[in-house]
Amino acid sequence: MKGVFITFEGGEGSGKSSQIRLLSEYLKRTGFDNITTREPGGTDIGKELRKMLLIGDTEKFDAVSETLLFYTDRRLHLTNKIWPAMARGKWVISDRFADSTIAYQYYGHGKRISMEDLESMYRIVAGDFKPDLTIILDIAPEVGLKRSYAKADTMVDKETRFESIGLEFHNNIRNGYLQIAKNNPERCVVLDADKTIEELHKDIIRVVEERFVGKQLDLF
Ligand code: TYD
Repeated sequence: MKGVFITFEGGEGSGKSSQIRLLSEYLKRTGFDNITTREPGGTDIGKELRKMLLIGDTEKFDAVSETLLFYTDRRLHLTNKIWPAMARGKWVISDRFADSTIAYQYYGHGKRISMEDLESMYRIVAGDFKPDLTIILDIAPEVGLKRSYAKADTMVDKETRFESIGLEFHNNIRNGYLQIAKNNPERCVVLDADKTIEELHKDIIRVVEERFVGKQLDLF
């Protein structure tokens, strides 16, 4: 695989989408061809799955069905979009990937599904492929949810199935992400997202520079 795969993770309203747009523009200016994408919903069928997963009653799926749907979306995303782009040498920046399933479906929901099952699903869907870098934007749920609801107010179909679950769920997700980072220090970096967009963008550039400069990519 010639390209580079960067994932952004974090709780609700952590500012991932603005930061992804800024990083993508920055990399393009620097000469790195990249695409941005997201989960769920990075492919045509994925867009249908996204509607099913993010709109409606919180309890409409049991934990296993919900997780399998996220993994169906992920498999299509990898085979139809991420891997082909990387094979052409592109950088792929994704708003969420498999850590979201660990943070939301495992930690968030009080471990209703086992880590063993999650790992098996990952292996079936992605084999030993993983992101080259995962940037986790850390924010207190009280702050993030406020931002997130402000955004949802402008949507016709409100994608708030997960936002609407209580604060304990969102605190579990935050702590879950910190645990994921601890378990994968070579891949994950946690950044404080309670900053201005510009300040956080600078932090992200610094991380990308540190990770890739002097290695296979002569970035700057
Ligand atoms: P997203 O567009 O990332 O929303 P936000 O910008 O608010 O972060 O929405 C995706 C939602 O789906 C988000 O609430 C997290 C949830 N999700 C999971 O629960 N598990 C998963 O595996 C993924 C990819 C997302």
